[in-house]
Amino acid sequence: MNREFSNVYGDERRAGAYADLEFPGTYYLAFRDLPELIGKHVKGPDALDFGCGTGRSSRFLKELGFGVIGIDIAEAMLGHARERDPDGDYRLVPDGNLSPLNELRFDLVFSAFTFDNIPDAKKRTALLRDLGRLLKEEGRIINLVSAPEIYVNEWTSFSTEDFPENKTATSGDLVQIVMLDVPDQRPVEDIFWADADYRDQFENAALELLETHHPLGKDSDPYTWASENRVSPWSIYVLRQEGRTGT
Ligand SMILES: C[S@@+](CC[C@H](N)C(=O)[O-])C[C@H]1O[C@@H](n2cnc3c(N)ncnc32)[C@H](O)[C@@H]1O
Repeated sequence: MNREFSNVYGDERRAGAYADLEFPGTYYLAFRDLPELIGKHVKGPDALDFGCGTGRSSRFLKELGFGVIGIDIAEAMLGHARERDPDGDYRLVPDGNLSPLNELRFDLVFSAFTFDNIPDAKKRTALLRDLGRLLKEEGRIINLVSAPEIYVNEWTSFSTEDFPENKTATSGDLVQIVMLDVPDQRPVEDIFWADADYRDQFENAALELLETHHPLGKDSDPYTWASENRVSPWSIYVLRQEGRTGT
């Protein structure tokens, strides 16, 4: 696909729909294992939520006890985050420029679904490198993204059946997916990235991949799964800066 990518989250109607979304269905699975993963890898309380959107992921981190700064490039999304969490720290940043945070260091740089919307391998690598520089000595990046499989299966919370072209997507291509849990059922446009390209970008950004987790649906989950107990819709990468210490 050659169409130009524009961040769909700059749109007020989309932002409003997203603001009401908590953790239903397939999203439950994205967040289900994070407390354990964070407990295993993260040693302190200071977190940056990169691409915080309407603040869902920031509020999740706050409930785990983190002090959180949420950053995003879409004012439409940040407005909702501030409305829901008036005491929260939600900041607009220029696209691809983390210099407003230069003086800060974090135990956790968390990113939920943000890299689904970032085009251009070079830009992604530069952002990942900059996020790595914001880590404390034992800090970790946890990067939760859509797995390639999400765009070619049917899910409890998503449908892709109207987009057969997703099946031939390669890294950097636009793909489409409909969110079934929000009233705004216009397709969301994401950018497809293969796992191998994520790994290349991490390596080029001087990040060491410590763990990759693909959460699968279980019978004990409070949802009836469509494909989720067969194939994972999500990839969760745990990273640190190369050459850093700690377990
Ligand atoms: C799918 S939303 C996820 C929001 C939130 N993390 C959550 O889990 O609810 C992705 C967000 O990433 C933001 N985003 C996209 N590119 C970005 C960039 N280069 N820097 C910061 N935020 C970005 C979008 O504006 C959008 O709000």
